[in-house]
Amino acid sequence: MKAFIYQGPGKMAVEERPVPQIKAPTDAVVRMIKTTICGTDLHILKGDVPTCTPGRILGHEGVGIIEKTGAGVITFQPGDHALISCISACGRCEFCRRGMYSHCTTGGWILGNEIDGTQAEYVRIPHADTSLYRVPSGIDTEALVMLSDILPTGFECGVLNGKVAPGSTVAIIGAGPIGLAALLTAQFYSPAHIIMVDPDTNRLDVAKRFGATETVSAAGDKAAEAVLKLTGGKGVDTAIEAVGIPASFITCEDIVAPGGTIANVGVHGAKVDLHLERLWSQNITITTRLVDTVTTPMLLKTVEARKIDPKRLITHHFKLGQILDAYETFGHAARTQALKVIIEA
Ligand SMILES: NC(=O)c1ccc[n+]([C@@H]2O[C@H](COP(=O)([O-])OP(=O)(O)OC[C@H]3O[C@@H](n4cnc5c(N)ncnc54)[C@H](O)[C@@H]3O)[C@@H](O)[C@H]2O)c1
Ligand SMILES: [Zn+2]
Ligand SMILES: [Zn+2]
Repeated sequence: MKAFIYQGPGKMAVEERPVPQIKAPTDAVVRMIKTTICGTDLHILKGDVPTCTPGRILGHEGVGIIEKTGAGVITFQPGDHALISCISACGRCEFCRRGMYSHCTTGGWILGNEIDGTQAEYVRIPHADTSLYRVPSGIDTEALVMLSDILPTGFECGVLNGKVAPGSTVAIIGAGPIGLAALLTAQFYSPAHIIMVDPDTNRLDVAKRFGATETVSAAGDKAAEAVLKLTGGKGVDTAIEAVGIPASFITCEDIVAPGGTIANVGVHGAKVDLHLERLWSQNITITTRLVDTVTTPMLLKTVEARKIDPKRLITHHFKLGQILDAYETFGHAARTQALKVIIEA
């Protein structure tokens, strides 16, 4: 089968690989229909994610059809359509029982990281019963692909951890797919202001269409100043960091209001300064989280009921054979105006 391979920092290729087989009775092999590329895949390609070693098939998102199941899989059968969660969970270990699937002792974020992922014709999914979701009829397949990672990530790591509340003021730093997913799902709670911050003017325009009340350019070093000005000098109740670089986290430190929350979502590859000499007295909370995907069933219902339309995040379509072009397009979003790219297997 065709597969997209991480070959080490800055190196990638499409290679022929054997179709994966069932290894444990709880596994399923899924024939991919559609997958996509995540900002995290770009971090892997930069060498920011040491757990992902050269030779790995990337990808942790997608929708497919069950090809084979191990003897222990009870909820899925060959031929069933399934949504693949970016997090694999056994459902039984101490962390899973606490709803923290991201730290499952035999799962977590392993797909396209520690085990081969979804940017291929087939993928092996461990703990299939508790890592796949049945696809409700009537939901568009491409909308579903947005539920593997970005919607639960924006919602859980950004909106829930950031304690977005009615009437509150929110700033989202980074208007990539994750920041935009946080923007869509923050509106479940009717905050008074959602200020979107990004250097990319196209992404800021998209953010306006998706419900941002104000936008601020992060080009140059005046973003924090502009956000403070918009909030009458007070700062924001929730600052969601959806980039993953020191500058954007520092922006959050600069704009969080007394009593506010910095909810980090970005994957960081470099250390960041924490200005406690200023923040120690500000009663703030800082949260970090690897997405647990515990809200996927709830988010599925909001998509089914058309409360949100994640398909709006999709800008480009490619075939698996063109995945290098898809990476090129997604990796140069300022030029290509890409948000999520769909790759058809
Ligand atoms: N915590 C998790 O579980 C989890 C899950 C998925 C993705 N992520 C991470 O979330 C982050 C965002 O993902 P994405 O797919 O949207 O990535 P992306 O690269 O498409 O988007 C990042 C955006 O940040 C903007 N940006 C760059 N520098 C900035 C600055 N100084 N201030 C404001 N904006 C700036 C870019 O223009 C871009 O629009 C990545 O770090 C990704 O790895 C985390
Ligand atoms: Zn991801
Ligand atoms: Zn577990």
